[in-house]
Amino acid sequence: MKIIELKEVFSTQDYIKKYISEKKEKIFVFAEKQIKGKGRGNRLFYSPVGGLYFSFYLPDIEDEKHIFLITSVSAFTFIEEKVKEFNLKPYIRIPNDIMINKKKVCGILIEKSENKFICGIGINVNTTFFPSDLKEASSLYLLTGKKFNLKKFKKDIIEKIEEISSLTYEALYKRYSENITISKKIEFLYDNQIFRGVLNEIKNDFVISVSINDKVLDFPLFEIFNFREIDE
Ligand code: BTN
Repeated sequence: MKIIELKEVFSTQDYIKKYISEKKEKIFVFAEKQIKGKGRGNRLFYSPVGGLYFSFYLPDIEDEKHIFLITSVSAFTFIEEKVKEFNLKPYIRIPNDIMINKKKVCGILIEKSENKFICGIGINVNTTFFPSDLKEASSLYLLTGKKFNLKKFKKDIIEKIEEISSLTYEALYKRYSENITISKKIEFLYDNQIFRGVLNEIKNDFVISVSINDKVLDFPLFEIFNFREIDE
């Protein structure tokens, strides 16, 4: 396993690409701060000092849904364990934001480069301040009042990803499904159309069931875009 620790970088997602070779080696790239942290949908991910920002590559995982589950369940479980003592319960906002009390504490980005999946996780750990346009963002520090040890976090998250990636696909899918928010009013774009309804459940193979007016419709999770939860 190769572990690279940087002080500052544009984005760990781009940096890791030059280390991914044909060698079957796991790689982790951490940065204390990112100048242009990448978010989903061409957005930026606010990445000041105090957060945990890293990208990783697992050479043995070649299936997109599998890597999606490993990444989401690892980030979720890691955060769940860290905030347990504060009686906080995180949940997954589909597709893969980790939320606590309606605040986003972690974002996940998976990109494909030369047929390889690069996973990026950004956890707002000790961040004390967010710009006013990031209304839904928060940090573990702001939610718990505790400053966490980032050095220990790096070691623990690597161990967590190792542990979670040894689980079966079925076990990962179960854990993912059990921790997403259902009964929420949602809005998303599918097939160039905007849909609004209530998320009923996630079925097998990433199909979500949504009640729209008096109908129940199924949508493939990976084909919906601009997903958001609507507050009532
Ligand atoms: C999102 O919520 O839109 C996804 C955010 C992903 C952020 C992480 S931080 C580490 C890695 N490097 C990046 O540039 N982005 C990901």
